[in-house]
Amino acid sequence: MSDESVKILFMPSGRRGSFPKGTPVLDAARSLGVDIDSVCGGRGLCGRCRVECMSGHFPKHGLTSDTENLSPFSVTEARFEERKGTLPERHRLSCHATLLNDVVIDVPPESQVHRQIIRKETEHRDIRLNTATRLHYVEVESASLEDIRGEAQLLLDALKRDWELENLRIEANVLPRLQKALIEGKQAVTVAVYNAQDVIAIWPGLFESPRGVAIDVGSTTVAAHLCDLGNGEVLGTASVMNPQIRFGEDLMSRVSYIMMHPEGAGEMTAVIRRALNDLFVELSEGVAGDLEDILEITLVANPIMHHIFLGIDPVNLGGAPFALTTTEALELRAKDLDINIHPGGRVYVLPCIAGHVGADSAGVILAEHPEQDAEMTLVIDVGTNAEIVLGNKDRMLVCSTPTGPAFEGAQISSGQRATFGAIERVRIDRETLEPRFKVIGSDLWSNEPGFEQAIGTIGVTGICGSGIIEAVAEMFLAGIVSTDGVVNGDLESQNSRIFASDRTWSYKLHSATAEGQSDISVTQNDIRQIQLAKAALYAGVKLLQDHMGTQQIDRIRLAGAFGSHISLSHAMVLGLIPDCPLENVSAAGNAAGMGARIALLDRDSRGHIEKIVRWAERIETAVEDKFQDYFVDAMAFPHKSDPFTHLFGEIPPPVVRTQQSAAGNTRRRRGRARS
Ligand code: FES
Repeated sequence: MSDESVKILFMPSGRRGSFPKGTPVLDAARSLGVDIDSVCGGRGLCGRCRVECMSGHFPKHGLTSDTENLSPFSVTEARFEERKGTLPERHRLSCHATLLNDVVIDVPPESQVHRQIIRKETEHRDIRLNTATRLHYVEVESASLEDIRGEAQLLLDALKRDWELENLRIEANVLPRLQKALIEGKQAVTVAVYNAQDVIAIWPGLFESPRGVAIDVGSTTVAAHLCDLGNGEVLGTASVMNPQIRFGEDLMSRVSYIMMHPEGAGEMTAVIRRALNDLFVELSEGVAGDLEDILEITLVANPIMHHIFLGIDPVNLGGAPFALTTTEALELRAKDLDINIHPGGRVYVLPCIAGHVGADSAGVILAEHPEQDAEMTLVIDVGTNAEIVLGNKDRMLVCSTPTGPAFEGAQISSGQRATFGAIERVRIDRETLEPRFKVIGSDLWSNEPGFEQAIGTIGVTGICGSGIIEAVAEMFLAGIVSTDGVVNGDLESQNSRIFASDRTWSYKLHSATAEGQSDISVTQNDIRQIQLAKAALYAGVKLLQDHMGTQQIDRIRLAGAFGSHISLSHAMVLGLIPDCPLENVSAAGNAAGMGARIALLDRDSRGHIEKIVRWAERIETAVEDKFQDYFVDAMAFPHKSDPFTHLFGEIPPPVVRTQQSAAGNTRRRRGRARS
């Protein structure tokens, strides 16, 4: 290395410095704190340190850069290209390119250790890659007669020498594999180090496919995302129906099952772990990988699913005071939970917040970050319970409110899960009161040519959660349903749309067209179920607003599958969510699952969410006196007294029908039905 100095500028960080000629670019980067990745420790094997040498004059920086200002292509780089393919033009391995003259070096995102992973547009922040499990390639000295150190010690010494990793502990599963790995790798091995502390895995030679899985255990669906821990990429996604459904459709019926069958808790734990293991096989096969490539999983779940997964009896969560066995985040060994990934693999379970507010809500908060903004954000995750977060950078409140399964299409006369054939979109003509709708599996509206052929022999099978929300909201907007939620049986309609049934009135959306099919209608009781569910949700929000001391909500995010599929304006028409400018209401996607993914890829996020969960204030709706009053007022569409000025400034208000004003409608069938 010469004494003569040259200048180097790194982009995009803008860090710059002067170094003696002959300094490797990677060394210059490290001494300036520039974030460049490496698994092989500068041996020209992994290609993670790849950078681009810029050409041209950079007047702002007073530098002229050229590829010739770096050392000529080395033999190691040529060998790397033989193995991994040609590097793009102007690209070099920074561990092998040395400085000859001034250069401007661009570090591409894929070469940055803490790169940002761009999230989808429905998500409003990127993820910083900073995994808990890191790979390190080392060449280990051979044992000799003169050296009394064992091979494990030689490995630890090599890790200290090359990676400055000290005080590491080698896991029991690694020791029996060590000698074989050293022989097979000709003394070169890759180890996985967890939290800069534990050597949890070892492979001969260079190993480059560390994987992790982010899991969201819902009461209905279990979803898993396989991620590359090296670059944060999602390699595959798989989901399966929660097999616990055979013990009970909803959470409380599963708890009841366990109360009546004490062995049930163990059975449910076994089936969920088996389902996860099956998902890991499916995901690994999907990328032609090995189960042992999976080194970490992170998991979110509601409190009952959380306890059952951990093998904890959830019965205490079935009634007040809804005592959780633990609210803390957990770092566990996969093998202790019968999880079949790498034998040294780790499981991180996000913290629970309260008896009804689980690790899934912690995931939602992690994904949505309401605590980072000044604006007051309301985040709602709708399931059988709605979990609600209201807050900003100054304060955060959370609660859970029992919405029941109506929003999922259950307890609705024609309700069904969101599968092929289910009505998911509804519009009702305000003059004729005639409906048109869309079903899952077809892009056509029911009044468009080709609809019948498009839905084929399956036909229209029922109405799912998003469909019932739209149907009831459209009935309200068309004046078929009053603000109190009563179907107006006095209205004339074509095709016997409004008909008496069981002493109340119903509205027919679709008449069966073939034998074995049923009419699809919205009954008075269906509307009542939606009122009960939405009133519970709204009352929960009102309580949080009360405690927060504000009626102002700047932004509403609806998390979960429900939030992704419903029409947000129809939800507001019914008063599921409070009034707010519609452009500030959006779906957050699977925010709980995204939270698990963030925790998987950014270990700092784990400490962050653990802190936020301790800071958040829990409001217990069950013991709040005002809840009942709020609930009663929220039964009306959209609400008994709250003005929905933003909403009805953007969409036409509901038709108010009286006996005289109902266009073409005259009173009829009086006395036959009552609400
Ligand atoms: Fe691995 Fe440069 S650090 S190739």
